[in-house]
Amino acid sequence: MTHALSGTGSLVVRRLWPSEAELFRGHFDRLDAHSRSMRFGGSVHDTLLDAYVHQALAGNGLVYGAFVDGMLRGVGEIRFITTQYPWRAEAAFSVEPDWQHQGLGDALLERIIAVARNRTVSGLDLWCRASNNRMRKLAEKHGAELDFSGDETHGRFTMPWPTPASLIEEVLGEAIGWGRWLADPAAARTALASAGGAHEANAA
Ligand SMILES: CC(C)(COP(=O)(O)OP(=O)(O)OC[C@H]1O[C@@H](n2cnc3c(N)ncnc32)[C@H](O)[C@@H]1OP(=O)(O)O)[C@@H](O)C(=O)NCCC(=O)NCCS
Repeated sequence: MTHALSGTGSLVVRRLWPSEAELFRGHFDRLDAHSRSMRFGGSVHDTLLDAYVHQALAGNGLVYGAFVDGMLRGVGEIRFITTQYPWRAEAAFSVEPDWQHQGLGDALLERIIAVARNRTVSGLDLWCRASNNRMRKLAEKHGAELDFSGDETHGRFTMPWPTPASLIEEVLGEAIGWGRWLADPAAARTALASAGGAHEANAA
């Protein structure tokens, strides 16, 4: 729901909708080369990222943003990969360099786990580089079993059934996230403007 940051500022997590593609794209623009490579397993061309963002928001998955003082600083994604029960899904995360190691990844993973549980997903998978200590530590902290193969780590979360706590985490978390966003139109306008500006600068 709301989470303490190691510095000052308020952190909320809420869903990103297809109309917020520019906002989501601006976040990827603000990742440095190392973080982008850790997120996508290599370098990714801007044109592919445009297509990726639209597909992630409109396709077979859900995207959640971590906002600090109204600005998007991290993203957690869940993609549903089976079409019949038992449901399985994959998750991926990215936090902007200046905002890493302050609990955003932790808050996003907590929400993605609640979202998966609430949709009766029985297994959630996550892949990262074997050298990605931060992601591995975070996954283990939330109960993942880790397998290693070459330079890759596979995290598997076995999901229990939904509980009142997992429903509250998602429903109340969304309500708080949207409440804060709507209560601060100035921050919303700044976030949207900076998302568009970063994208235009990158495309130039
Ligand atoms: C991986 C990532 C999403 C984590 O997000 P984050 O906001 O930095 O993570 P948090 O601050 O919430 O938590 C990180 C945890 O790892 C721990 N950690 C941080 N650096 C660490 C390190 N070098 N070695 C071991 N653990 C480390 C932290 O102590 C924290 O654990 P705690 O909650 O017990 O204190 C973020 O660093 C990122 O975007 N990296 C680039 C993209 C990426 O690697 N994505 C993962 C592949 S899908």
